[in-house]
Amino acid sequence: MTPRKLLPLLGLLAGFAWAQSGGLVDPARGPVPIPDPTEPPRLGNAVNDDVRRPRNYDMQPPTIPHRVDGYQIDKNFNKCLDCHARTRTDFSQAIPVSPTHYIDRSGKVLPQISTRRYFCMQCHVAQDPVQPLVGNDFENADTIAKRAAEAAQANKK
Ligand code: HEC
Ligand code: HEC
Repeated sequence: MTPRKLLPLLGLLAGFAWAQSGGLVDPARGPVPIPDPTEPPRLGNAVNDDVRRPRNYDMQPPTIPHRVDGYQIDKNFNKCLDCHARTRTDFSQAIPVSPTHYIDRSGKVLPQISTRRYFCMQCHVAQDPVQPLVGNDFENADTIAKRAAEAAQANKK
């Protein structure tokens, strides 16, 4: 092997040694060494409090505030639409899917849900009541705008 080819390999080994020595902190893996598979905690008790959660940004798909285990979604039946289709919300009191869900990819408005939006859980997910594994200081646009307005107000005084 030429030295040039050897370099990346050496780099990899050094990185590996560093990770083994505890240099790499990955809260999702915990102390499990890189070559070993981890056993993630099982999910299974989704929040079911029926409280709609605020959205963090425009066009965010809202998270699901109820359990959805075992709901059938296949070519014969879509359990979600059984409640969320516009024609079903009288009976279900669910929030109707928005008009965007009836638009196909060329912008045409369809009388039924677009195939692009058929598999709801590609975008909408239920939530488990767990603590986030990594810190996150994301602030939504409203919070930032509010702080800027307050700072401007304070400057005027
Ligand atoms: C039995 C009726 C029913 C079924 C079936 C159902 N939902 Fe719901 N869903 C509701 C109701 C009612 C709400 C309003 C909040 C609540 O009561 O939980 C809701 C709320 C939601 C919301 C929150 C909307 C928002 O604006 O915050 C999403 C997203 C959602 N459901 C997605 C789904 C998906 C995806 C499925 C299928 C996997 C599904 N629902 C199946 C009745 C239903
Ligand atoms: C490709 C991603 C995607 C898929 C698939 C999808 N949605 Fe959505 N959904 C969104 C986004 C993004 C929004 C928020 C913006 C909007 O309304 O278009 C949304 C909004 C919603 C809302 C809130 C409507 C409102 O007026 O507040 C409901 C309820 C909902 N979706 C239900 C569903 C159901 C039920 C399905 C399956 C039949 C589904 N969605 C499939 C992306 C998706």
